Amino acid sequence: MQTKLAAIGEEALAAIQAAGSAAELEKLRVKYLGRKGVFRDVMADLKSLPPEEKPKIGQAANRLKKEIAAAIDNVKKELQAGKGPAEPTVTFDPSLPGRRPNIGHRHPITQMIDRIKDIFGRMGFSVAYGPDVDYARNNFEALNIPPDHPSRDAFDTFYFDKDVVLRSQTSTVQIRVMENQPPPVRVIAPGKTYRPDTVDATHCFMFHQVEGLYVDEGVTMADLKAVLTMFAREFFYPDVTIRFRPHFFPFTEPSVEVDVSCAICGGKGCSVCSRKGWIEFGGAGMVDPNVFEGVGYDAEKYTGFAFGLGIDRLVMMKYGIDDIRRFFENDMRFLSQF
Ligand code: PHE
Repeated sequence: MQTKLAAIGEEALAAIQAAGSAAELEKLRVKYLGRKGVFRDVMADLKSLPPEEKPKIGQAANRLKKEIAAAIDNVKKELQAGKGPAEPTVTFDPSLPGRRPNIGHRHPITQMIDRIKDIFGRMGFSVAYGPDVDYARNNFEALNIPPDHPSRDAFDTFYFDKDVVLRSQTSTVQIRVMENQPPPVRVIAPGKTYRPDTVDATHCFMFHQVEGLYVDEGVTMADLKAVLTMFAREFFYPDVTIRFRPHFFPFTEPSVEVDVSCAICGGKGCSVCSRKGWIEFGGAGMVDPNVFEGVGYDAEKYTGFAFGLGIDRLVMMKYGIDDIRRFFENDMRFLSQF
């Protein structure tokens, strides 16, 4: 009986020392000390012992019980204090997705250009691009703006030399497209444009335009108005209206400036539209026959319209941004909002 107790004690203490968690310890406690545990059998065995041995073995068994209980308590405390094998306490949820790396996104102007391409794309316009650095001829002469013509002042321009400029309008792409393909033409040309303006809240030496050009037989100003109205409705909201004001551009005749009803006040007049109810949208008109002749199109057979919209202003209007410089300062606090 003595040896049996010793064996139980040895096994129990070893198991307790090796236990790695409170749950394991509790299992051992139940196994040895529980009401149906090992010591119940020991006590049952006691009964069959000769009377003179009972007290001695009984005491030994009780001592061992206490020892085991104390060992369990000790190991439990050690585990709680972080000694010994740590209990696998879960301090995070392993089923949660990992932390996303910050991969950034497209610039708000680029997002808007993609949106514009999408809307015009659905109306059958393809996209054309031209270089930022272009011949003065494409920026002026081919657009019916002869040297020394006073309207050159309206398109103040950065010159590399007398023949090469930073384009001051995306209208250069009209010429490049028409010189490279016969009618019909239905393109838009988004991109950067440059003018030596003093930088302030509404001006920058670099800004963005989207050009539109539609040439075919029988194209009229009604088509121009329809296309721009469709665009404005998609871009802003469904019941937006646009209006044409007479204007002058050397490369269109007649020419108009296009306004869109203010999205903020719905045309009643507010601070965004300077109480006018209308916001300038861009320039447009019917392609001047002189331009057609210059690119070799038959001006008797074909008519067409062109327009140029200022993209930066559209984005400012859409989001209520008060300063164009925000777009180009690379301030992540601003850019990450889009
Ligand atoms: N290029 C003109 C501008 O920058 C806009 C325009 C484009 C006007 C096409 C008429 C036709 O102001």
